[in-house]
Amino acid sequence: MISVIQVGMGGMGNRWLQTVRESGEAFFAGFVEVNPATAAEQAAKYELDPSTIFSNVEDALSNVRADGLINVTPPIFHEAVSVAALEAGIPVLSEKPLADTMPAAQRIVHKANETGVLLMVAQNYRYSVPALTLKHVLESGELGAIAAVTVEFFRGPHFGGFREEMPYPLIIDMSIHHFDMMRYFLEQDPVTIAGRSWNPPWSWFNGDASASVNIDFSGGVHLSYNGSWCSQGQDTPWNGNWRFECANGVVSLENDQVVMQMTGKPLTVIDPVEAERTAQLYLLHEFHEAITTGSVPATTCQDNIKSLAIVFETLRSFAADAPIQFMKH
Ligand SMILES: NC(=O)c1ccc[n+]([C@@H]2O[C@H](COP(=O)([O-])OP(=O)(O)OC[C@H]3O[C@@H](n4cnc5c(N)ncnc54)[C@H](O)[C@@H]3O)[C@@H](O)[C@H]2O)c1
Repeated sequence: MISVIQVGMGGMGNRWLQTVRESGEAFFAGFVEVNPATAAEQAAKYELDPSTIFSNVEDALSNVRADGLINVTPPIFHEAVSVAALEAGIPVLSEKPLADTMPAAQRIVHKANETGVLLMVAQNYRYSVPALTLKHVLESGELGAIAAVTVEFFRGPHFGGFREEMPYPLIIDMSIHHFDMMRYFLEQDPVTIAGRSWNPPWSWFNGDASASVNIDFSGGVHLSYNGSWCSQGQDTPWNGNWRFECANGVVSLENDQVVMQMTGKPLTVIDPVEAERTAQLYLLHEFHEAITTGSVPATTCQDNIKSLAIVFETLRSFAADAPIQFMKH
């Protein structure tokens, strides 16, 4: 069992409170929450000892002995919280996005390299059953080379809070999951990006909530991504719908079901893979293993900054209003 400090007890904080409790691999040494009302509410809801809830990360780090820290604060606070933990020698499991800007992400990676302390990012979408099933099909190699991919993501969530104030909420707070999935599925790096973004007239977000992005990957794959967080109906799943055009057929993830068709053969619905742990439980397990055995998680900050770079290169392409060459990060 590892002991952890959870920083941030808001919306997503609930998921981590539940995950740690049901994991059997971790327990809480303490919490940090800057909003006293949220701290009191969550202490009552989860029957927590209020004396274990601190109002800033420094106090928690100096008063509590912990093996790891889970950073569930809004993106603008990720750097301060993560760097404080790394400097204290405490491994971090950080919510996505790694940071709210590329320079902040680079400073986190620099600090992780300098201290030699682990920071991994919660890219839970990789570890859902539909994503694992699709990955399994792609890894089999049966479909041959992939030439093109289309991804469609359309939902209309009313979150309130930081997402409605931030610039490019779709790309920075949501598409990071889809961009990370692209790297996971394709095992290729982006080469050029051309994107456009806009805000529908009825948008309840300050920043652009819709975008269309074309990305060419190093292995020759042409990918087209269309998404909106302001869609008024016919929601796609959170994973989005994916279609891979391959030499020997087509595989798609449609409404979270993987369907494959080899050329000239009937459609086959692929049985979902069986996974002992998925999503947050899987990530916490990877974190536990890294702390107890020294194994290296897939989504370390050193790797994840490449997924985050797709976010910020996409924003650069919006500003350029023309295809841009992907900068190495
Ligand atoms: N992986 C996923 O699927 C997923 C889903 C939802 C949210 N998230 C991520 O989780 C993070 C938090 O999102 P949320 O929806 O819970 O936001 P939220 O605003 O609901 O909650 C954040 C909480 O952190 C607290 N906080 C802010 N700064 C703090 C600090 N310095 N120290 C301690 N507490 C602090 C706030 O008071 C609030 O209670 C974001 O990075 C978001 O992108 C991930």
